[in-house]
Amino acid sequence: MILQQNFEPDILGFLCNWCSYAAADLAGVSRIQYPPNVNVIRVMCSARVDPTIILEAFIQGLDGVMVLGCHLGTCHYMTGNYYTERRMKTTRKVLKKVGLSPKRLLVEWVSAAEGERFATLVREFTEEVRKLGPLGKETELKLEQLKTRLTAAKEALAQEKIRWLVGKERELVEDKNVFGEKASQADFDQLMFQTVEKEFAKRRILLSMGKDALSVKEIAKIVGVSPTEVLRNMISLERAGLVSVAGIDGSSPKYQRTGGS
Ligand code: FES
Repeated sequence: MILQQNFEPDILGFLCNWCSYAAADLAGVSRIQYPPNVNVIRVMCSARVDPTIILEAFIQGLDGVMVLGCHLGTCHYMTGNYYTERRMKTTRKVLKKVGLSPKRLLVEWVSAAEGERFATLVREFTEEVRKLGPLGKETELKLEQLKTRLTAAKEALAQEKIRWLVGKERELVEDKNVFGEKASQADFDQLMFQTVEKEFAKRRILLSMGKDALSVKEIAKIVGVSPTEVLRNMISLERAGLVSVAGIDGSSPKYQRTGGS
């Protein structure tokens, strides 16, 4: 506990140009005190913050990330922050899957006139992350294992089908298609979760494989899943041209990577 009190969190803040960045400016000129733990990156709209960027921030060792945008309904690009809200909800779920506390990602709305609110959010989030401790403190995983999982999650989120789902969620859930139908939020969440799970498993397997061919059993041991699950993923990775069969080890097929991603 003493260690955590001495721990100074390293936080990255994405602030949209039109509201939250202006609020940070206002807090500065009004001389409102807040902790210096946040390094700010100004973006034109919170919707510019891709989920893969959040994961990269954690891979680089940041302890917390905050994304601040205009209040809902006041985004300067009309609907940008509605997309942000949904994307960040997915990103939080992915963080949990990786083994990190979703509390390490803060998403909030601050207007240009809310300098005090900006300072309060920074104060409260810094304390929250301080309580959580350095990155990975909440998991049994070693830092290297955690970073490998974060990298696998980042690669999964960069896949076209997931990008498509992330980008289309609002449309699919809120607008009717040409047949007058729309997806329920629960159905969409389930589809998204299953798709992310599948891609995450594949990426973890690929990252576990070096240059040498490995048997299904060896890969299962490294990744920590059953050989049956590895084999199922191998078949789909082979179809995608990402691995090829390199022999047999007893009764377990051996695979090697074939380049690509
Ligand atoms: Fe501020 Fe879009 S411009 S959230």
